[in-house]
Amino acid sequence: MKILLINGSPKGKKSNSLRLAASFVEGVKLKAEGNGEEVTVDEVEVVSLKISACRGCFACWKNTPGHCCIKDDMTSIIEKEIEADLVVWSFPLYYFNVPGMLKNLIDRQLPMSLPFMSENTNETGSGGHDARYDMKNIRHVLISTCGFYSAKGNYDSVTKMFDHFLGKGNYETIFCGQGELFRVDELSDRINQYLETVKKAGSEYADGKISDEVSNQLKTLLYPKDVFEKLADADWGINKETGEKEAQDLTFTRQMAALYNKNSFKGKNRVLEMFYTDTGHTYQILLTKEGSELFTDGSLKATTRVETPFELWASISRGEIEGAEALGKQLYTVTGDFSLMMDWDKIFGSDAVGSGEAFDSDAESSGTSGLKNPSMTTMLLPWISFWIAVAINPLIGSIAAMAVCAFVPFIMRKNKLIIWDQLSIAAVALLSAVAHFTGRGELATNAGYLIFGLFWLVSCFTKEPLCASYVKYSYGGNKAGKNPLFMNANYILAACWGSLYILTAIWTFFLRKAGFGNILLIINNLVPLAMGLFTGWFVKWYPAWKASGK
Ligand SMILES: Cc1cc2nc3c(=O)[nH]c(=O)nc-3n(C[C@H](O)[C@H](O)[C@H](O)COP(=O)(O)O)c2cc1C
Repeated sequence: MKILLINGSPKGKKSNSLRLAASFVEGVKLKAEGNGEEVTVDEVEVVSLKISACRGCFACWKNTPGHCCIKDDMTSIIEKEIEADLVVWSFPLYYFNVPGMLKNLIDRQLPMSLPFMSENTNETGSGGHDARYDMKNIRHVLISTCGFYSAKGNYDSVTKMFDHFLGKGNYETIFCGQGELFRVDELSDRINQYLETVKKAGSEYADGKISDEVSNQLKTLLYPKDVFEKLADADWGINKETGEKEAQDLTFTRQMAALYNKNSFKGKNRVLEMFYTDTGHTYQILLTKEGSELFTDGSLKATTRVETPFELWASISRGEIEGAEALGKQLYTVTGDFSLMMDWDKIFGSDAVGSGEAFDSDAESSGTSGLKNPSMTTMLLPWISFWIAVAINPLIGSIAAMAVCAFVPFIMRKNKLIIWDQLSIAAVALLSAVAHFTGRGELATNAGYLIFGLFWLVSCFTKEPLCASYVKYSYGGNKAGKNPLFMNANYILAACWGSLYILTAIWTFFLRKAGFGNILLIINNLVPLAMGLFTGWFVKWYPAWKASGK
């Protein structure tokens, strides 16, 4: 397959539209090559070519049929067009049409048509000219970005023109509003999400046509209208009232405020105060159910205050540094209401706006196998059933516990099994067998406390404490491993739970020996419950305490 990509943006390689076109072509290429086709891509940059305006002399029709009298780069463009299997027209919208240089190229295609009047088969206009060459099998795709919030209603002249010269319905289009956002690195999450969809469109197109599902996704706004307009206004870096150039960190903070998702409002107004330690500037963002507002006079009472070098914050938003990792390393500090930081992605992130589809942060771990993430239930189910059933009746209870061990992989078949699940199933099955054949249920359950405690403690010497293996999926999947706050909190908790169960084994042994076995039912249930409550409190308190720079 020969692909001709015509980049009609005067910005050349810096074109927003070209980013879409390149993703589309990448999708086509991958798919076609996967189908065993050989693919070549020829990208021509109109701005770098010499293509003069048509002189209207009709020499290409009467004096030198099929050949223009102007000798410039257009000769090779026509050759490439005739040779191509797919022509991708990539261009920005200029005054509701194609940019002038691309219009020149289109006008200069006159030698490709025959001069004679022919039946108009395009269902549009009042006349036509047959093609000089057989170009029926050449497919065409128009890819363009425009500056307004939506492409809707802006491309009427473009499609009218292409309807005339390619034929109505003979070409595919991908038109995208908010084009200038494609150059904003801070929005790369959402932009890359869109570009992935364009690539998918390309691979579908290689096999036939773009599906309705992908086509609808392509028509989804990058950001809602109000968010986009605030972002776009802020991006000029000019104060709307005074017309003066603004400080870079102010422009940046305005854009951050623009990304606020008012649906994340939780009943009371919040004030996020940003203090940039390197520029010395303080800005406050009021977050309400109506939207966000930026204050530069420090007149509000902050509910959350972030102290950070501006450069660092900008790097984080460009995705160069993980925010949580930087916080864990105390490169910036947060005081006040920490829940705002915990919900950052919902409040300001890419999953807050755009298509409304949350970014699948678990994709790396659950995407390929089709299984859900590991669940702590898989590990706990054998243990809990063992402790209860064997305590009631060692002979029958142990059989019940073994049955649970056998069925857990089936009950939890939708979740991935991890090492702690497998070890737990094996340990409980073994202890149940001991209880069954020796009839010494107390010994077996107590050994269970010891082994269970050891699992937690041993995991503290590995690169991922036991609890982190399960809960990391709510904190960005494997990325959480780089977050020292997350990892430290989990190491501490794993050590606490491990120690608790070792102690449980010890006190159970001695209390039974001293004849106080009956109070164990209360202690051994109440203490883990208290530990559960502590865990719930600790996972909130610890990051907030650390983030405040303590
Ligand atoms: C001269 C000029 C005219 C423009 N006319 C329109 C327009 O009519 N409608 C629109 O939505 N955007 C318009 N824009 C915005 C561009 O279409 C938008 O910035 C686009 O993303 C640029 O794409 P590119 O980077 O591929 O060149 C215009 C921009 C310029 C410079």
